[in-house]
Amino acid sequence: MLIRRSPDIRSSEITDESLYWRRRDWLASLGFGAAAVVMPRLAHAVSRQEETNTWDEVTGYNNFYEFGTGKDDPRKYAGTLRPYPWTVSVEGEVARPGRYDLAKLFGGLSWEERVYRFRCVEAWSMVVPWNGYPLREVIKRLEPTSNAKFVEFTTLYDPEQMPGQRRSILPWPYIEGLRMDEAMHPLTLLVTGVFGKVLPNQNGAPVRLIVPWKYGFKGIKSIVRIRFVEDQPVNTWKASASHEYGFYANVNPDVDHPRWSQATERRLGKLRRQPTLPFNGYADQVADLYRGMDLRVNY
Ligand code: MTE
Repeated sequence: MLIRRSPDIRSSEITDESLYWRRRDWLASLGFGAAAVVMPRLAHAVSRQEETNTWDEVTGYNNFYEFGTGKDDPRKYAGTLRPYPWTVSVEGEVARPGRYDLAKLFGGLSWEERVYRFRCVEAWSMVVPWNGYPLREVIKRLEPTSNAKFVEFTTLYDPEQMPGQRRSILPWPYIEGLRMDEAMHPLTLLVTGVFGKVLPNQNGAPVRLIVPWKYGFKGIKSIVRIRFVEDQPVNTWKASASHEYGFYANVNPDVDHPRWSQATERRLGKLRRQPTLPFNGYADQVADLYRGMDLRVNY
């Protein structure tokens, strides 16, 4: 179902006026007049009947260890991040490497809104209306070579802007990776906004990854480098606790985390737990990517 609607933000929805104006600047920098942009809304079958989580839940209960390990730390402390202007370095097995500002990285792509069930490793889940672009559209324009088998993403390393990086809770900078076919899947998004507003710092401004069928830790925030590589990248959580986290991280109710069951999940804001769906409910769209693989071993 595709519903077109105007991207104009009603003043009642504006929680932070500077965010609103920054968004207009950003859209203008992409070559759009803010009013000319249409946001197709693609509500997927899985999330159609599900209630969207609130702005407060999505932007107030976060994991972003660069700003502390408490769920409310990112909202409190991510103000030191300066997401504009921002450049992303494109490296490795690719015909068009270079340093891209965001407008150049996304070119003339349209601004899309999708509603995704998004869940995190600690067995809570959320339904979030992310705004973003299919990563594949960006990748196609960068022209990876045939040697590119994986894509590696890296978060900014700057302890002045991200004070949590002064503590060695994780090996910094945060790194994530996808196999090329996962990166090219139309559900994989580079996210630049949420609820039709520019992405708040605590959610990974100005650009982060969302892979709806995987655990939340794959959704790397505040990306400064995209590297096309031959070998499987070493992602941060696997590097720091390989017995608990793997590379694939596909949502799988049958494979427990060593410290908790993944058979059920708790939707943020709800009391009762609910069964977790294989591939987070996107099995019809993505199970083919993993045909023949043992997903108990490749978790
Ligand atoms: N990206 C970076 N750079 N640092 C992080 O600590 N946490 C990950 C992921 N991306 C994290 C990150 C984890 S564990 C989760 S569950 C999601 O971000 C949380 O995204 P959200 O706060 O927008 O819900």
